[in-house]
Amino acid sequence: LMVDKGNHRHFMAKEIYEQPEVVGHTLGHYLDFAGGRCAPDAIGGIDFASLDRLSITACGTAYYAGLVAKYWFERFARLPVDIDIASEFRYREQPLTPNGLSIVVSQSGETADTLASLRYAKAEGQKVAAIVNVQESTIARESDFVLPTLAGPEIGVASTKAFSCQLSVLASLAVAAGKARGHLTDVDEERLVRALSEIPRLMSQALRLETQMEALARDLAKVQHILYLGRGTSYPLALEGALKLKEISYIHAEGYAAGELKHGPIALIDENMPVVVIAPYDRIFDKTVSNMQEVAARGGRIILLTDPKGRDAAAIDAVETVILPEMPSTITPLVYTIPIQLLAYHTAVFMGTDVDQPRNLAKSVTVE
Ligand code: G6P
Repeated sequence: LMVDKGNHRHFMAKEIYEQPEVVGHTLGHYLDFAGGRCAPDAIGGIDFASLDRLSITACGTAYYAGLVAKYWFERFARLPVDIDIASEFRYREQPLTPNGLSIVVSQSGETADTLASLRYAKAEGQKVAAIVNVQESTIARESDFVLPTLAGPEIGVASTKAFSCQLSVLASLAVAAGKARGHLTDVDEERLVRALSEIPRLMSQALRLETQMEALARDLAKVQHILYLGRGTSYPLALEGALKLKEISYIHAEGYAAGELKHGPIALIDENMPVVVIAPYDRIFDKTVSNMQEVAARGGRIILLTDPKGRDAAAIDAVETVILPEMPSTITPLVYTIPIQLLAYHTAVFMGTDVDQPRNLAKSVTVE
């Protein structure tokens, strides 16, 4: 496989920077930007109107993409979604209804537990759609519907561009499902497709935060524990941010739903535990502000990722803010993932770890 790092120090950095382009390609495959419509041919005959349930199954970062998509499918298509880690799904013996569809998400298309989940769903009589990056993979071969992510080869063990391309496919599918099920009007569809079409440009803007993320990473490289908080679709992004950081910097990080702060992690807060809060300004922003106040009252150091409205509304002293552009709330997970990835990347670089080949991890986990 001939892929080089170009001008970048690591494949991970190169792959982070490729995102505006590969996300644009992927969205362009599933959406008709000019017409402001979904491209129904791209989803190859999945009949969303007849479904009563979706099961999304995956491992690692792909699982977090699925968790974001649960919010989208439920909001846009009123379609209930079960989301599972593949190693749980395959053994849980859950009943799958014939009117349900299984979606498996996998960069490599070879992850053992995800493949076993696919086979379980088929044995239960369900059709399976696979969102895969490697189209010649076992998971792609065995699925009824193959929905490619057009990320190109991903070399860094910690997934970046595959994740944002998985989100791109899932967001497009959720809009198509909403349309097919009559929950989105033509006007809604057009508004959402326009919003999605803005992602590559907004990602390029977010990449300009690199210097700030590097400066923040210099301090993070000195701590032992970091907490990530978010609500709504920023909650799975908090989980993904914590995973990214621990995978490559070996710093202990946990992601939590912000509302769960008082049910446990608040006990850990002191001046030595930074808290990364992912909170674009939205209808539940105020709730997250109260969580930040609880952290601040205990001397916790807060790094807040938000937009200009969020910065003004937060009104808490001693918060370090990372300001992203304002954007429709549907697309925030795709754009906020950029500073989250850059923060993990630069922290790992300061720690001096092997960023592209972190210890003990494999790019593709083909054994249980
Ligand atoms: C490994 C990789 C992760 C990846 C996960 C699932 O743990 O290190 O980056 O998210 O496997 O892999 P898949 O190929 O199924 O997406």
